[in-house]
Amino acid sequence: MVPSDDKVPCRPRPLQIGDTAPNFQARTTMGDMNLSNYRGRWVLLFSHPADFTPVCTSEFVALSRAGAQFKALNCELVAISVDSLYSHLGWIRAIHEHFGVTVGFPVVEDPSLVIGRAYGMIAEDAPDAATLRSTFFIDPDGIIRAMLCYPATIGRSVEELLRVLAALQKVDSDNVVTPEGWRPGDDVLFPPYQDQVSALDATTNVCWFHRTQPDKQAGAGK
Ligand code: BEZ
Repeated sequence: MVPSDDKVPCRPRPLQIGDTAPNFQARTTMGDMNLSNYRGRWVLLFSHPADFTPVCTSEFVALSRAGAQFKALNCELVAISVDSLYSHLGWIRAIHEHFGVTVGFPVVEDPSLVIGRAYGMIAEDAPDAATLRSTFFIDPDGIIRAMLCYPATIGRSVEELLRVLAALQKVDSDNVVTPEGWRPGDDVLFPPYQDQVSALDATTNVCWFHRTQPDKQAGAGK
C-alpha cells in the first residue's frame, strides 16, 4: 500500500548534479578548512568508510602519488570520514612509514556525521555510521558536477577520477561532449542538435547524430 502523504517520512532531497555543494567548516589533518575557500578551484571531495582499512589505504596511496596530476588540473583533493582527527593523523603517519608516501591533501574529521549526512555519504539503514565511498566533483563555482558512489569493498580508480575531471573541464572549455571512454587528446563530439531545423539542415555525410571533431588541445605540449 502506498502511504498517504502525511505518513511519508520527510527526508531531505538527495544531492544532485547541478546543486551547490553544501558548505562546511571542519578540522582536518592540515588545519581548519572552509569549503567555500576553495572557490576558483575544482575540488574532489571523497569519503572513505574507515581509517586503517585495506581498500582505503590503497586509495590514499594512489591518490597521494597522483597529487601532481590533480594539481595540474587545478583540482584540490579533500578526504573525509567519520573517524577522529587523531585517527586520521595516526593513519597518515602509518601510510608514510609503510609506503613512503606523504598524504598531501587534507583529511576532514566528521565524528558528528553532520557533513556526511548533508552529502548523503552515510547509507540509510546502515549498521554503523561509516561513510560510503562517495566522490563529488565540485567546480570552481561550488557546483556539484559529477558524483560517484562505490561500496566499501571496491576501490575507486584514480585514472577514472582524473579522466572524469578532464572531461568536465573539456566540456566547459570547448562546448563539446565527450564519448565513451574519452581521454584528453581523443576526438570529441558536437553537442546534440537542439531543434528540428538544424537537424534537418545537417548536410553532412557523416552520421548526423554522432559528429566527431578533433580535441583542440590534441598534440598541445608535445
Ligand atoms: C576497506 O577499506 O578495505 C574496507 C572498509 C570498510 C569495509 C570493507 C573494506
